[in-house]
Amino acid sequence: EHPLRLGLIGFGCVGQGFYDIIEQQPGLGLAVARIAVKSPNKPRTLPPDRFTYHADDLLHDPTLDVLVEVIDDAAEAFRLVSTALRQGRRVVTANKAMLARHLPELVQLEQEFGGTLLYEAAVCGSIPVVRTLDSYFSHEPLRAVRGIFNGSSNYVLTRMSEAGSDYATALAEAQVQGFAETDPLLDMGAFDPRSKAVILAAHAYGAFLNPDEVLNLGIEAVGAADIAYAAARGQKVKVVASVERLPNGRVAALVTPQLLGPESPLYAVEQEFNGIIIDAEYAGAQFLAGRGAGGHPTGSAVLADVLALRRGHRYGYARRAAAPAAQLTEGLELDA
Ligand code: HSE
Repeated sequence: EHPLRLGLIGFGCVGQGFYDIIEQQPGLGLAVARIAVKSPNKPRTLPPDRFTYHADDLLHDPTLDVLVEVIDDAAEAFRLVSTALRQGRRVVTANKAMLARHLPELVQLEQEFGGTLLYEAAVCGSIPVVRTLDSYFSHEPLRAVRGIFNGSSNYVLTRMSEAGSDYATALAEAQVQGFAETDPLLDMGAFDPRSKAVILAAHAYGAFLNPDEVLNLGIEAVGAADIAYAAARGQKVKVVASVERLPNGRVAALVTPQLLGPESPLYAVEQEFNGIIIDAEYAGAQFLAGRGAGGHPTGSAVLADVLALRRGHRYGYARRAAAPAAQLTEGLELDA
């Protein structure tokens, strides 16, 4: 069997992490055949002849078995991924903002042209939550999926609760460590966890929510006084995303800061870690936790998708009856 030839689009934190992991494990039967990046002028860890500066070169290369898209720009990511799916290709993406806006269309393209799209890395970094909902829990009605879906804001909250660290310093640290989005508003304003909630709603309930119809409140309004108030009561401030099916059958999502006590498993989720509670009708509640951001953890999830594609894995939206979306904030309860 010849090594799977990969076309890698993007060589930032995640692309580099993915590349490193493959380099460190030569037995995987994978070859990063071509790498496309935007700027010829950035210093990089590989020689210039390893790169092309036109992502379309990879779309025009029929020798590539899988395209891996890990760029920042959601509009460009959609153009590349949708074009590749029209070619019937196998594609991995980590672009949560792009997926949250375009999932129904991408699923349609997959079905029409016979390609495959996987995106475990788009939701909560290294935590295998998409496939857990999509495959493992496909037989069960789910009561709710809740959790901390953003590493950077959780990192900032954790640092702010320690003595001597303020918001600006903590944010700068999250940026240096490669957790934060290029535009920190996406993390701090809870747009990033909102995208992840929208993606999980599709796998948990077959519901395609419009991200603009999901309320997202971040930590910009959370100050040292709020954190001290919580601490005095034995609690912590955490940004919790909730996705659930309401008694009327509609699916609702919300992202907002909450006060959590030690009785919630999310209370112990600190730094850039993410945590997810899956509350299933028959199995009961389960809790997943792990690194939600960073090059190696996210690169590991991208790699898991590439290997799953080689085994012929596809997501199974069709196994769930499609559920309608709720109105903005309709009927949500906030307890995590
Ligand atoms: N900026 C994101 C976070 C990266 O902090 O969680 C992972 O999606």
